[in-house]
Amino acid sequence: MRAVPVSVIVGLMVMALATVSQSALAGGPRSRELIDDNWRFALGHAWDPAKDFDFTTAYFYNAKAGAGDGAAAADFDDRGWRVVNLPHDWAVELPFDPQGDTGHGAKRVGRPYPESSVGWYRRSLDIPATDLGRRISVEFDGAFRDAQVFLNGHDVGRCASGYDGFRCDLTDVLNYGGTNILAVRLDATLREGWFYEGAGIYRHVWLTKTGPLHIAQYGTFVTAESVSNISDDALTAGSANLKMATTLQNESAEDASFSINQAVLDAERKEVGSGVIPSLTVGGGDSREFELKLKIANPRLWSPEQPAMYTLVTTVQHKGEEVDRYETPFGIRTLRFDKDQGFFLNGKHVLIKGTCNHQDHAGVGVAVPDALQAFRVRRLLEMGSNALRTSHNPPAPQLLDACDQLGMLVLDENRRTGTAPAAMDGLRQLILRDRNHPSVFLWSLGNEEWVIESNIIGQRVVAAQRAVARKLDPSRLVTDAISGGWGNGTSNSVDVMGFNYYTHGNVDDYHAKHPDQPCIGSEEGSCTTTRGAYVRDDATAELAAYGDTAPSWAATHEHWVNFYASRPFVAGAFVWTGFDYRGETTPFGWPGISSQFGILDTCGFAKDAFYYYQSCWSDKPMVHLLPHWNWPGKEGQPIDVRSYSNCDEVELLLNGKSIGREPQPRLKQIKWTVKYAPGTLTAIAYKGGKEAARDVVQTSGGAAGGGAAGIQLIPDRAAIRADGRDLSVITVRAIDDQGRPVPTAHGLVHFELNGPGKIIGVGNGDPACHEPDVFVDKVQAITISKWKSKPMTDAGDPPEAAEDFDDSKWASAALDDESKKTAEVRIYRGIVEIPGDGATSAAAFVSHAGKDFQLFINGKRVEDSSHLSGRLRAGKNTVAVVARVEKGKNLGLVIRRVTPALPWQRSLFNGLAQVIVQSDQAPGQIILNASGDGIAKTAITITTDR
Ligand code: GAL
Repeated sequence: MRAVPVSVIVGLMVMALATVSQSALAGGPRSRELIDDNWRFALGHAWDPAKDFDFTTAYFYNAKAGAGDGAAAADFDDRGWRVVNLPHDWAVELPFDPQGDTGHGAKRVGRPYPESSVGWYRRSLDIPATDLGRRISVEFDGAFRDAQVFLNGHDVGRCASGYDGFRCDLTDVLNYGGTNILAVRLDATLREGWFYEGAGIYRHVWLTKTGPLHIAQYGTFVTAESVSNISDDALTAGSANLKMATTLQNESAEDASFSINQAVLDAERKEVGSGVIPSLTVGGGDSREFELKLKIANPRLWSPEQPAMYTLVTTVQHKGEEVDRYETPFGIRTLRFDKDQGFFLNGKHVLIKGTCNHQDHAGVGVAVPDALQAFRVRRLLEMGSNALRTSHNPPAPQLLDACDQLGMLVLDENRRTGTAPAAMDGLRQLILRDRNHPSVFLWSLGNEEWVIESNIIGQRVVAAQRAVARKLDPSRLVTDAISGGWGNGTSNSVDVMGFNYYTHGNVDDYHAKHPDQPCIGSEEGSCTTTRGAYVRDDATAELAAYGDTAPSWAATHEHWVNFYASRPFVAGAFVWTGFDYRGETTPFGWPGISSQFGILDTCGFAKDAFYYYQSCWSDKPMVHLLPHWNWPGKEGQPIDVRSYSNCDEVELLLNGKSIGREPQPRLKQIKWTVKYAPGTLTAIAYKGGKEAARDVVQTSGGAAGGGAAGIQLIPDRAAIRADGRDLSVITVRAIDDQGRPVPTAHGLVHFELNGPGKIIGVGNGDPACHEPDVFVDKVQAITISKWKSKPMTDAGDPPEAAEDFDDSKWASAALDDESKKTAEVRIYRGIVEIPGDGATSAAAFVSHAGKDFQLFINGKRVEDSSHLSGRLRAGKNTVAVVARVEKGKNLGLVIRRVTPALPWQRSLFNGLAQVIVQSDQAPGQIILNASGDGIAKTAITITTDR
């Protein structure tokens, strides 16, 4: 695509309009349809074509257009494969394995595991004949990784990175008025990061249709050029001058004439401004950018407190007909970095209270549904955080939507540093895709590029990437998360210096030598803690939640917060990390399977540190006490008690008796030593001498302490949309017979769901739990590729079908066999090897043989090939088929064997577990039952509605 920027002033007449027939450019309105449902999925193989559905075995597989073979071919029979809905992460379905890479979550993905590192996805697309003339493409928000995409056997696109969105144009190879097969092969053998990355089509897939003259992909860009008279509370302004750039792409052969209408709608979809750019042209096969400036009176400004959104509706008119309509959500706000005072949003100083996050969640891995993205953002906001760094890759677009809508600033990070086309394209994609999101306040070009960040190469490479970023988006500055060589390499090429760990250099010295460069703490903390654990235990990979220790390069929460608190020239910082994530099991290897840097665990359950950050980042009076108060056997012994508060003083009481009242130093914890006695420990926080907040921990679980008598199911939302995507995140909490939480309970809980929904994942935040996160049917597709055959006429029970019939003299039935040139009735014999596992059902699917075939297994005729249970035995089975195979085709037979999933269950970890329940399309009541050994059964209802 060639983009030629042209400034067009409203009212300017452009001459020399080409005449184009209406039908050539119309093609119907734009549509964008989610095609996440009903994909067929199976694992292939990284190097053995025989286990990779014969892909790349045909003579011309990569040599001729449309010659994609094996599972890439349109006529491949995928009826033996499992049906999945996207987003999907197959790595999360694999068992935890001590041989797997613990850095990546201890899964069998990577070089040593060719049998579980390649995944295939196939789906049919019905394209009506009336779509002929439209531009049709499929857009992937992201797939991990090395995607090869085929449409009816045609190579339509590839994308190496698992983090880039990519688009495949299907227009010229589609079968209009019929069915088409989209096939995607992913190969997760190679990594891109050093953390859990998942595997699969783990983000959405869209089918987009436009007319030939249309707005280009990511072809709109709205910026507030200036905002005047910002009010004191910085939430409204006198007026804003908006600049809107629109790139039109003309994919017809003819020149096109048209006009562009821009309408700005507020959150209630009321029009607050509009303009027209009349009389435009774009040559056939060309694209051009057009600009319009609009003044908006009294705009609501976007901010974390009031995330006011607007929508730009761009329409393209050609000969009085609307040929395209495109909506761009955006926000109006100003961004400014100051070298001495940090960051300003809408003219108001905002301290960046940030967290870095990877993209996986308990239960689902990297396949995070949109509603779960929003859940995660809400958890961070509850902590008082106002910013999120998408370490270390472009995020799912829906995470940014959630940040726009909920009011979370975003440091949007690029994956690859370099000047190779792939690295530059990845950066371009990121910026074009994300530049309209008001939440994005700064671009991060990369993270800790150890080989180059301290030298001239880092300086040059990052300068080149910065130039690309600034050209595509002059409205934002760039940073880089730099862990060394401050002052020498990369740091010389960024607008905003990004300190990755103040321990890696001298922040004050750097600022003194670079007084004009604003700076931010791009990454800090890395303090490791386990939720609800107060004693380190290497055998179970548990660390004390007091958070007193940190790895050598890192700092405790209290240390880094206080370090930056006295350095106002730093705009704030991003703590590593908001949530625990799979992989990076610092400081343990196996049995650890997830990181422990999080302030929240992998489920989003708060560790104590969550409340430390609340005490620093939130103004709402609060106090938090730790640890829990279940210490049977420790009566009379000293217990290390801490409190976090943002008030003036804290008083501690044991069983109603005051132990002391202490002044509360800002950003610091108070340490207490309390002789244990069962009962109630209370912290009362005072402001101006008056009680402002209180926290209580109580001994629970009976005399012995720790025993759970029941469970509570607590949904984050009790009513969800019946759209097959929305979900409720349900906390499973152990309680005793008096209804008090039991934070030391660890029993197994079983779940059963009835109604229009399903469980999509379970978790408990235990960094060393090896229980499955998902329970899915095991589906095996077993094919016979080597047939022997001979012609026959008898349609009855032929003796040749007998199990022990000697077929050693028969010819093999290969496609180049003379006999395939005519479609004659033949008998085929083959052997199928059936594993001796617990599959409970099997079905056979015969292809290229029409409907009138006869199937025999071990000599016995099969009347209903969809129910083969009891007919197959473990080991060798003889299969015979009498059929008239289509001319030029091989007989296909696939046996689908299903081992049903075990019922859903999960152990509690320190009193908590999580169940993620997703709706179906049907409205109704979802009932989730939970039960456990010695635990009373309980149920909750989630209502789903359209
Ligand atoms: C940083 C790195 C992060 C993570 C962290 C762990 O150096 O940027 O990705 O590995 O260390 O402390």
